Amino acid sequence: MADGPGKPPVRALEPSLYGRAEIFALERQTVFAKAWRLIGHENMLKAAGDFLTDDLAGRSVLAVRGKDGAVRAFHNVCPHRAGPLATTPDGHCDGAITCAYHGWRFTFEGRLQSARDFGAAEGFDPREHGLIPVRMETWRGFLFVTLSDTAPPIAQMMAPVDASWTDETVQPFALRRSHTIRCDWKAYVENYLEGYHVPLIHPGLDAEIDSANYTVHMEGEIAVHRAPSRKADNVYSGYWAWAWPWLGINVYEHGVMMERISPVGPEETRLDYLYFFDPARGEELEDMLKLSDAVTDEDLKMCEIVHRNITGGVYKAGPLSPRHEGAVAWFQARLRREAGYPG
Ligand code: FES
Ligand SMILES: [Fe+2]
Repeated sequence: MADGPGKPPVRALEPSLYGRAEIFALERQTVFAKAWRLIGHENMLKAAGDFLTDDLAGRSVLAVRGKDGAVRAFHNVCPHRAGPLATTPDGHCDGAITCAYHGWRFTFEGRLQSARDFGAAEGFDPREHGLIPVRMETWRGFLFVTLSDTAPPIAQMMAPVDASWTDETVQPFALRRSHTIRCDWKAYVENYLEGYHVPLIHPGLDAEIDSANYTVHMEGEIAVHRAPSRKADNVYSGYWAWAWPWLGINVYEHGVMMERISPVGPEETRLDYLYFFDPARGEELEDMLKLSDAVTDEDLKMCEIVHRNITGGVYKAGPLSPRHEGAVAWFQARLRREAGYPG
């Protein structure tokens, strides 16, 4: 079907907004500090004292399961002299959260239990020195944290996902895999938001899906991918989506992979893939990991080249395809709004 002449194409973001420390600092404040961030799932925290940590807009955040079964989030910052309470991405605290610097101990509810060897001090009231809470909400057992008091509830943001991903079962946590890419986080997200590149850089994926009919459309703050399979029982069949600004959701027949896109610096992005998978389906998980590694590798290589080219001084903001890059245009318009970029 012909598209007709249409409107002039939307221009991509200015290249001067990529790979620069001051822009990264601005996005930290205007985007990351206001967004919901997936830290993990309740089923990753089995016992009281099990914890997860994450970097959220440059602040370290800790989520810990309490003796009452509830999971709470705190800043991973000791109120004594700012030492870290936990120093690994996940783990278990025995009996209490113990600061790694001078050993103050806190309950899993965040109260100061003992200030180790502190000495007598008049007016020292432990109740005034508890951990600083962080806003946390759950959706289908997934734990989301935010530094914002005003962000709408996570359930509201995820409502379009509820409508399409109707089986609410979340399989047990299977494994975490991380990849580092030398690119601005925006270049990676933009790549994530279009299927236009599939026939060119993902031959394996292209053989499985009908990429001519690959579409990505926005439902609220969720970008929904649709890619018809070329055959039945395709490993790729399922639900793929992205939630503003840094979460990929990949639902497969026997599990789900949540992809946390983590901006590390102006030229570095880390991907944390969290796999939740039916333990009886180890073989399918192995197959999926192989395919996912191949596609990830193809995307990473391209994103690193694109980053170098965007920041190389030659490229000018190009036109976005009205047919394929609507979600990229949505992402960039939202960024312009949140960060105050012109255009
Ligand atoms: S900074 Fe935590 S005990 Fe001193
Ligand atoms: Fe890709």
